[in-house]
Formats: sequence, structure tokens, C-alpha cells
Amino acid sequence: MEIKKIGICGCGQMGAGIAEVASKTGFDVIVSEVNDQLLQKGLARIQNSMAKAVEKGKLDEASMKAALARLTGTTKLADFADCDLVVEAVVEILDEKIKVHSELDKILKKEAILASNTSSLSITELGAATGRPDRFCGLHFFNPVPVMRLVEVVRTVATSESTFAAAKGFAEKLGKVVVTCGDSPGFVVNRLLVPYLLDAIRALEAGVASKEDIDNGMKLGCGHPMGPLELTDFIGLDTIYYIGEIFFNEFKDHHYASPPLLKAMVKAGYLGRKTGRGFYDYSKK
Ligand code: 3HC
Repeated sequence: MEIKKIGICGCGQMGAGIAEVASKTGFDVIVSEVNDQLLQKGLARIQNSMAKAVEKGKLDEASMKAALARLTGTTKLADFADCDLVVEAVVEILDEKIKVHSELDKILKKEAILASNTSSLSITELGAATGRPDRFCGLHFFNPVPVMRLVEVVRTVATSESTFAAAKGFAEKLGKVVVTCGDSPGFVVNRLLVPYLLDAIRALEAGVASKEDIDNGMKLGCGHPMGPLELTDFIGLDTIYYIGEIFFNEFKDHHYASPPLLKAMVKAGYLGRKTGRGFYDYSKK
């Protein structure tokens, strides 16, 4: 089956990025959000990002107009009925994702492929909530999606060869480099990245160094583009907290657990850049 129309469920940071890249590549794209306010915010995010790319000379005006013409938004999953591939990018909570996937399964045509952009939940478990575990896989993108070159394509024991090939082909068409992973928590990147971020928060909590010195240490000492606390602000403290909880439940290992400081900050609403405050203050930017 040729993949022509893509559905993106959830138009937050990741969903908007995937929709932007897919529509720029030439796919017809429909994005969904739970209400009109969030949908308009998500669509504006995509338009602004494309406008910035035009400003920087990375995209011409005509290509932007063509990409935006290929993009539509909806608040009804029923509008995904003619999609060939749907990528779910909703909040990292198992019950929410299961609800969305079982609903999409009923709406999509039989041959359509369902994928999740989950960072850490079990692709097998999500696929099992549908009647199409053979046409189910993980497509894990990285933030910011237009810049980060990697996509992890996750296959479960039930994912068919043709589904895997189609998902990999889709990611490559977007200009991404694919890493193939089995369905293990965090796949490759988050399994290594998230414990590192949690350790940096523990180091801050223990008074090892200031947040600036922890970040500068890793930026200047290891050549990372962002320090771990800056990167946690960028990804979202809530996302890292959820991933930590999922990892701890899976591995029962303290190394993967979210530290109390992270929990406290999430409960206080300090979620990072998106709320204007995380380890750093973004309210004036
Ligand atoms: N959309 C499109 N382009 C963007 C962008 C965005 N949101 N943000 C930055 N860019 C582009 C800029 O236009 C610029 O392009 P140019 O060099 O052609 O002019 C380039 O990226 C560099 O941007 P800046 O000069 O503004 O700033 P930096 O040099 O500080 O780079 C960064 C910004 C690319 C975000 C860099 O800091 C970085 O790579 N940070 C690490 C990001 C990372 O690790 N992401 C993975 C997170 S883990 C994840 O997503 C998995 C999840 O499951 C948790």
C-alpha cells in the first residue's frame, strides 16, 4: 500500500513537528486536537515554524504555501478514516494512549498502519489494544522534529514485515535516519538519555554544583549542545517525570526513578520552557 495521507493525533510539540515535516515532504496531513483552542494553537505553531524557515531561507514561500495547503486540522478522530498511516503523539499516559488507539482502530480502514510516538510506553501493549497488532509499530521522533535527524522505528513480535518496511520507508522519505529497535522501555535513546537527565537533577538536589555549572560541565566538557537541566526544560519536566515513573515501574531500579525535586517541580507547574519556568526562568523571553 502506498502511503499518501498521514494522520497526526495530538498537535503539541512533537505532533506539530511531525506534521510540519510530513506536509513539507509532500504528504497530505491531518492533525487532531481535543478541542478547537488547542488545535488552533498547534496549527499556529506549525505556521510559525514554517514562516521562520522561510525567513532563514531554508524554505521558499511557494513551498510553504503548498505545504500548508496539504495540512488540515480537526477535533474529530472520525476525520482520520481515509488515512494510510496515523502517528499518535498524545500525552505520555498509558490509559490516554490506549483510549486513542482503540478508537482509531475502529475508524481506520483495514490496511492502514497505526504508530505511536511514545517515548517509553510498551508498543506491544498499545498494539494489543487494537485489532491490528500486525499493522502497529513505534515511530519515535526527536525534538525539535524539523532539526533532529533520527527516528527510532520500533517493531514488536507482532509487527509484520510489510508494516515495518512501510514505517521505515515513511521516516526515510521525511529525510530521517532510522534506528531499528525492539520494544524495550525507552528504546535506544531514552534508555540512555533519561537516567542521565535524572542523575543531573539528583546532582543538583545533592548540591554537587549549581545548575549553571552542571549544564556548562556537560556542554563544554562533553560537547553536548545543551546541558542536562537545560535539555530537561526543553523536553518538558512532566515528560521526563512520566518516563522516569514508567522506567521505575518496569525495571524496579532506583537509577530510573524520578527524584523528589523533579516531582515537586512538576506538581508546582514548573514544566520547563512551555510554562515559562523550569530549572531556568523563560518568562521574559
Ligand atoms: N524548528 C526548526 N528549526 C529549529 C528549531 C525548531 N524548533 N530550533 C532550532 N532550529 C534550527 C535553527 O533554525 C538553526 O538552524 P540554522 O543553523 O540553519 O540557522 C539550528 O536549528 C540551530 O538553532 P539555534 O542557532 O537557534 O540554536 P542552537 O544552536 O542552540 O540549537 C537546538 C538549538 C537544535 C535545539 C540544539 O540546542 C540541540 O540540538 N539541542 C539538543 C536537542 C535534543 O537533544 N533533542 C532530543 C531531545 S530527546 C527527545 O526528543 C525524545 C523524547 O522522547 C523525550
